[in-house]
Amino acid sequence: MTLLHTSTALAETIVLSASDVAKSFTMHLRDGIVLPVVRNVGFDLHRGECVVLGGPSGVGKSSILRMVYGNYAIDEGQILVRDTASGAMHDLGGGDARLILELRHNSIGYVSQFLRAVPRVSALDIVAEPLTARGSSREDAVVRAAALLTRLNLPEALFGLPPATFSGGEKQRVNIARGFITDHPILLLDEPTASLDAENRDVVVAMMKEKLAKGIAILGIFHDLPVRDAVATRMLDISDFSARKTAA
Ligand SMILES: Nc1ncnc2c1ncn2[C@@H]1O[C@H](COP(=O)(O)OP(=O)(O)O)[C@@H](O)[C@H]1O
Ligand SMILES: [Mg+2]
Repeated sequence: MTLLHTSTALAETIVLSASDVAKSFTMHLRDGIVLPVVRNVGFDLHRGECVVLGGPSGVGKSSILRMVYGNYAIDEGQILVRDTASGAMHDLGGGDARLILELRHNSIGYVSQFLRAVPRVSALDIVAEPLTARGSSREDAVVRAAALLTRLNLPEALFGLPPATFSGGEKQRVNIARGFITDHPILLLDEPTASLDAENRDVVVAMMKEKLAKGIAILGIFHDLPVRDAVATRMLDISDFSARKTAA
């Protein structure tokens, strides 16, 4: 693992720092055509703030979350993430798989836009799993998972069923509960409320505010204006980092 900075090298409140990040996609099945997406991406994320990524569809917002979560490799730049276990900043940009898994364990939570349902695993176990993976007993984890699903108004009759057949909004509430059950210091949210009704959207807003009050930092994409207004402390327009502006 490469140790790039000690906790004193950057402001202590910074939990994530991206600089000069560039990303393009190479379409191997299309004669290796290269599609540039973003360049010169730079921002810091501090404890307890909610930075919202804005800009039109296709500009690269979800790609930035995936790069921060280590799902997408980057072409250039640095993504420094604070490992709260040690206090040190580590560069995710190098694509070191062990480092990525460690940072996901200790530092970064992620709610993707859609639930990736695991066949035959119940909603309750999907939500409880991050806790058991961190040493909680199954009994405690399941009690907390049930409480969270109840708060999100998922009918109790669904708790024991695999989400494959659930509605879009039901699946998304399982996804949100799984992402919120732990207290990772950095929480990445990709349109978590997009398929929710107003009542459940308000529940998720309240859950986000509780995270922020605990000092957890949120980096999110929210198209819903009421949600954005309720939680955003700062906006980041990803159009400023578009690598396609001059090519278009
Ligand atoms: N895995 C991928 N392979 C190829 N192109 C991709 C991939 N992921 C995203 N893209 C492209 O990158 C651009 C940005 O996508 P995305 O980050 O999803 O945008 P946004 O979230 O802002 O709508 C789009 O043109 C999209 O087609
Ligand atoms: Mg997106």
